[in-house]
Amino acid sequence: MAKAAVLQHVCSECGTSSGRWLGRCPGCGAFGTLVAEAPPPRTGPARERRAPLRLVDVAAEEAERIPTGVPELDRVLGGGLVPASLVLLGGEPGIGKSTLLLNALGAISRRRRALLITGEESVAQVKLRAARLGGCDAVEILAETELETVCATLETERPAVCVVDSVQTLWSSEIGSAPGSVSQVREAAARLLRVAKESGVATFLVGHVTKDGSVAGPRVLEHLVDCVLQFEGDRYHAHRILRAVKNRFGSTNELGVFEMTGAGLVGVPDPSEVFGRTHGGEVGAAVTCTLEGTRPLLLEIQALVAPTDLAMPRRVGTGVDPKRLAMIVAVLSRHAGLPLGSADVFVNVAGGVRIDEPGADLGIALAIASAAKGVPVREGVAAFGEIGLTGRLRPAAQADRRAEECRKFGSRTVVGPAAETLRGALASALADSAS
Ligand SMILES: Nc1ncnc2c1ncn2[C@@H]1O[C@H](COP(=O)(O)OP(=O)(O)OP(=O)(O)O)[C@@H](O)[C@H]1O
Ligand SMILES: [Mg+2]
Repeated sequence: MAKAAVLQHVCSECGTSSGRWLGRCPGCGAFGTLVAEAPPPRTGPARERRAPLRLVDVAAEEAERIPTGVPELDRVLGGGLVPASLVLLGGEPGIGKSTLLLNALGAISRRRRALLITGEESVAQVKLRAARLGGCDAVEILAETELETVCATLETERPAVCVVDSVQTLWSSEIGSAPGSVSQVREAAARLLRVAKESGVATFLVGHVTKDGSVAGPRVLEHLVDCVLQFEGDRYHAHRILRAVKNRFGSTNELGVFEMTGAGLVGVPDPSEVFGRTHGGEVGAAVTCTLEGTRPLLLEIQALVAPTDLAMPRRVGTGVDPKRLAMIVAVLSRHAGLPLGSADVFVNVAGGVRIDEPGADLGIALAIASAAKGVPVREGVAAFGEIGLTGRLRPAAQADRRAEECRKFGSRTVVGPAAETLRGALASALADSAS
């Protein structure tokens, strides 16, 4: 006798499934996130055996990438959109996902067919945005949320590029759970992936992010798609940053910088000029140069050192890895003689940028040292270099390119590449440091 289908309970945060309901998810530890979901139907014809090919016999020519018309987006994608690829764009509500993709569709539609499938906004709402952005007249639009209809439309219409805004609104009647639930989102992405590959439609999926910043619903989506882009930045500031979290066709270090304006998102070709600007003579501010992918980027780092009575002083960094910050503070105390043991240290990176590489260590250390001593950094100084645990400096990767960027934006002295020790570097960068 066939066994009755068992109801699965799936976590809406991480996708872990369990045979029975639990108050706490065994996968991610979240409370009250397990929801009952009917298992997918097990149907399908009997499979026939197929012979594998040797790689040498596979015919493949590299398809030309599709320029999206948004240079910053092209850069993050690794030089344009790969035909028939599936790209997931995640970001917080209101950050500008729909705006960015409508901008791109508008430019693509001048040479190719571009289709927008909107499940979140009405056709009229999109029209209003398109009127504000301009240049989107040839974009085709379909307001639809049923997965089967969307797939059938893509298979017959075969646009070059399609945007699904958003994947959480799609639902399939074959799956018994609510739209936006883990199994619906997973099924939608899997089917769109198949359609993208078989019909040659390059597809962007818009995905919402959860409280902790990962793309909402199942992490499994990230494994499924070819490329995961994250749109970040402070909603209250005009600058937005686009970065690739995963990219099967290019580097994940590339960074795109945009400014949100009334006429849509405008690319910032020279972000160093925006993020590396300092007010001369300010205590606790330093300029560093990081390397994001192929692009050197000047950043202003601000630090505050304040006395505290806490037994465990705070080390709080925005845009800086907390472990890295703790290490830099420890090295400054031990090897540069700064009394930071009874002080809170706060560090902030300009423009909502996140620093992921050690080359910016010296810039962070310089800002903290300036704040701790109450002495500003000399005018026209930029600093970069990796700090070792012994207080010795290690040269940052591609130091020449960083130094060139620093000079391009008016830094007369670049501290880091030639300095040997942290103490020496700080002495040469801080004004009046003899005192
Ligand atoms: N007239 C305007 N002038 C300037 N900025 C605007 C204007 N209209 C909208 N915006 C900006 O566009 C942002 C909304 O963009 P968009 O709808 O593309 O975001 P989204 O990421 O798609 O949001 P959601 O998650 O809600 O779909 C707003 O936060 C606002 O900053
Ligand atoms: Mg939107």
